[in-house]
Amino acid sequence: MPSALTDLRFLVLSGKGGVGRTTVAAAIARAAAAVGRRVLIAQTDAVERLGKMLGRPGPIGSTVTNIAPGIDAVNMTPKESLHQYALLVLKYEAVYRALFASRAVRGFLSAIPGLDAYAMLGKAWWHTTEVRGDDHRADPRAAVAGGPPRPKYDLVILDGPASGHAIAMLKIPGAIIDAAPAGPLVKDARALRDLLSDPNRTALVVVTRPEELPASETRELVSAARRDLHIALGPVIVNVVPPDRLSHGPVATVLDRFGGRPSGDPALDATLDIAAGVRAHRQTAEAVIARLQTDPGLPLVLLPWLPSTDLGPREIDQLAAKLMGRP
Ligand SMILES: Nc1ncnc2c1ncn2[C@@H]1O[C@H](COP(=O)(O)OP(=O)(O)OP(=O)(O)O)[C@@H](O)[C@H]1O
Ligand SMILES: [Mg+2]
Repeated sequence: MPSALTDLRFLVLSGKGGVGRTTVAAAIARAAAAVGRRVLIAQTDAVERLGKMLGRPGPIGSTVTNIAPGIDAVNMTPKESLHQYALLVLKYEAVYRALFASRAVRGFLSAIPGLDAYAMLGKAWWHTTEVRGDDHRADPRAAVAGGPPRPKYDLVILDGPASGHAIAMLKIPGAIIDAAPAGPLVKDARALRDLLSDPNRTALVVVTRPEELPASETRELVSAARRDLHIALGPVIVNVVPPDRLSHGPVATVLDRFGGRPSGDPALDATLDIAAGVRAHRQTAEAVIARLQTDPGLPLVLLPWLPSTDLGPREIDQLAAKLMGRP
């Protein structure tokens, strides 16, 4: 991973469902925390897996929780996010209640396509604007120097929705700016759009696997992003790359020698079959990766398949090390 990725303020992760977006969010967070950055992982109504990956089993709810040194997490839900966002804009619970209790208003809101997604994107953005109130007060030099308050989070990682939903979500600020009457909603949508379109602060990172379906979804996602969004594209992260240990050296020589011919020993034949399957899997993956290299033509970062059914902190740290370019 280019170290620049951990230097950004806002990362949006997307890709086909199940490819490893949450795993990669956890690994990037660990890599960033290892270099002293304070990170928030903002999940979009996710299935509960993140806590376990970072060693804090138990649900991550809609309240920001510390889950590892330097890493906080929150699992946003549309309803909760809309409430919190509305409170920030409208300031008073009573106003919120009066407004949202009205059936007409609720009907109007539910008719806005993508409002749910926007509430979560808006909440993730809002976390990028939070400042370290306590630290700032505690550090008299900062006050004397009159420097800008430090952000509470150096990096917010949005563990975003799958491909098509992510594009729809990221289009909404523009739609609000074009269509909504001037007011706090438009002001925030502008700030959000400025953040999303600033390559020094934001990148969209597509996670994929070296298989046909996720790879073609990656190409579609990147071309939709290039066509419809103003957002910098980070490297494509190819997750779960099968091992190449059987592609070279003595094992490969043995596989070539037998080439599916019976050896006379059924146990050996069964073992060779499995080994040949693993090697073929790797060859298929390499072909998919070669195509990804030319289309979409973004830098690729490869993450290995890890032989564990239940990824925990040890495995996540292995992936974080790979992201940082360590063997
Ligand atoms: N590099 C890896 N090696 C082995 N297993 C992995 C790897 N990356 C992810 N997995 C496994 O794949 C599954 C899906 O991963 P993850 O939950 O990160 O995907 P996701 O894209 O966030 O899925 P969802 O669409 O459900 O949000 C998990 O069981 C995870 O443990
Ligand atoms: Mg996930």
